[in-house]
Amino acid sequence: MEKEKEIKIAFKCFDSIADLDEAGKTLCEEARKALINSHSPYSNFKVGAALRLESNKIIYGSNQENVAYPSGLCAERVALFNFGANYPGETIHSIAITAFTDNFQIQSPITPCGACLQVLAEYEKKQEAEIEVLLYCINGPVWKAKGIKSFLPFLFFENRLNK
Ligand code: THU
Repeated sequence: MEKEKEIKIAFKCFDSIADLDEAGKTLCEEARKALINSHSPYSNFKVGAALRLESNKIIYGSNQENVAYPSGLCAERVALFNFGANYPGETIHSIAITAFTDNFQIQSPITPCGACLQVLAEYEKKQEAEIEVLLYCINGPVWKAKGIKSFLPFLFFENRLNK
């Protein structure tokens, strides 16, 4: 027998950053500030990420490209590995991500790549608390979701290794 199944992904869509609460708005603005340090001469596509820790500390990341292309890293992982290496025992409350290019106008939020989602999932699991994700399109909508499972519903968990 064959059955059609569906997984629904819940997220909130705000028309603009102005519709967010104060904490969300600030974090999106911090992600925008992070764009300044993007090193992206090859793609000319800047990505900024800001993590808010439970302690309210903000950690920034931006994409860092390299002439040997695969040696570069996405903004999200730059921020997350900085967190992992320097803030032991702390908890990530939320992450905001934004992007800018002068090649064209970005019309909708950019979503993290699979590798960044996998790394987000790792820290979520480590801290045993879901991370709020804000995807911020400058002069456009903001998408908000809670928990990486919203993005990776079939995420492999190590509990599957046991019966
Ligand atoms: N990039 C990020 O930093 N984060 C994403 O979520 C998507 C892509 C970067 C990688 C590369 O430097 C540039 O954007 C173009 O792919």
